[in-house]
Amino acid sequence: MPHPYVLLSAAVSLDGYLDDTGPERLLLSSPADFDRVDEVRASVDAILVGAGTLRADNPRLLVNSPERRAARVADGRPEYPLKVTVSGSGDLDPAANFWHTGGEKVLYTTDQGAERAHALGIAADVVPLGTELDWRRLLEHLHDRRGVRRLMVEGGGRIHTQLISQGLADELQLVLAPLFVGDPDAPRLFGPGSYQGGRLRLVETRPVGDVVLTRYEPTAPGAGALPSAADHHWLALACELAERCPPSRTAFSVGAVVVAADGTELARGFSREGDEPVVHAEEAALAKTDPMDPRLAGATVYSSLEPCARRASRPAPCARLILDAGVRRVVTAWREPDTFVADADGSAVLAEGGATVVVLPEYEERAKAPNGHLLDR
Ligand SMILES: NC(=O)c1ccc[n+]([C@@H]2O[C@H](COP(=O)([O-])OP(=O)(O)OC[C@H]3O[C@@H](n4cnc5c(N)ncnc54)[C@H](OP(=O)(O)O)[C@@H]3O)[C@@H](O)[C@H]2O)c1
Repeated sequence: MPHPYVLLSAAVSLDGYLDDTGPERLLLSSPADFDRVDEVRASVDAILVGAGTLRADNPRLLVNSPERRAARVADGRPEYPLKVTVSGSGDLDPAANFWHTGGEKVLYTTDQGAERAHALGIAADVVPLGTELDWRRLLEHLHDRRGVRRLMVEGGGRIHTQLISQGLADELQLVLAPLFVGDPDAPRLFGPGSYQGGRLRLVETRPVGDVVLTRYEPTAPGAGALPSAADHHWLALACELAERCPPSRTAFSVGAVVVAADGTELARGFSREGDEPVVHAEEAALAKTDPMDPRLAGATVYSSLEPCARRASRPAPCARLILDAGVRRVVTAWREPDTFVADADGSAVLAEGGATVVVLPEYEERAKAPNGHLLDR
């Protein structure tokens, strides 16, 4: 099920704290950065914070600039983004600023928490998600029921930790402030958790006043049938690679990327790469890997089109090449149509060989784009 794009936003001290332990909220951002945050808020459909942040900071979470609010309205959007909070207990202050400023509010909670929130008279749409709070269900609900396509998450640490360790964050916008906290009881940005093994991708660094903004994208593929946010990034790259294929009237243009479980890219390729007239994308990518590389067993192959099940030009189709390489997870955007091969079903070949195939249909149009001339026939 589709999720919103999830953007985590936080500011930390030089020693990695989100706040101090004093009664007032510690201001980590510079004035210029508060304005940047206001701009990001104005660009999203919803802003989420945890109940811990509501209790500690009593935030209003508004778009402060009248010009930005006017621009939202002119675009046909609500003046303020939807405000979302998460509480297992439902034990929240009904007089908090969060409920009485801005536009619509949603509280995601447990069944028990919903009873408590109703008893307290919390002024919000209270959505119980069962005995425990499941982040995937919450994100699906925001996407499907509330039309949220971009979600900004403004903390605190326990919320950020769960979203990033569960592979649900598309982007981290981290501001480093030039000050120290030095109190071991102060909250940290990320707590203990099972994080991805490898490195995140740095996408931007920018000084904003006296702080520095760094933007990162997680890189680790999902596990089994559950897609991670990084699966979307890699599949988008496969679709971009498909655009680079030399044109053909007799074969699809496809892009492929092979990625280790820790998010390290092992290889990439595209159809007819290197002027090889019959080479397929997965074949081109796998040919660049070391067949003895132990990371292949935990790797994911991203292919803009489902790997082929049969082909005349080579002894082994791509589904077989993937299985022979030891890869057991494939993410694709588009099931193979009957254009060249009737009833091609590379997914079935992969599944029979013990691989999990994940289809993300939201990328189908991008995968089809360089193949439009073949589909009109
Ligand atoms: N520097 C920054 O950018 C920044 C931004 C935001 C916040 N902060 C700071 O961060 C601190 C607050 O962080 P925090 O980690 O204590 O709190 P938090 O992450 O804001 O909220 C944690 C609370 O959210 C609810 N929750 C989270 N995950 C849940 C789950 N899976 N199931 C059920 N409920 C869940 C629980 O509420 P219940 O207890 O009601 O069950 C939990 O106590 C504050 O000091 C604040 O100033 C700093």
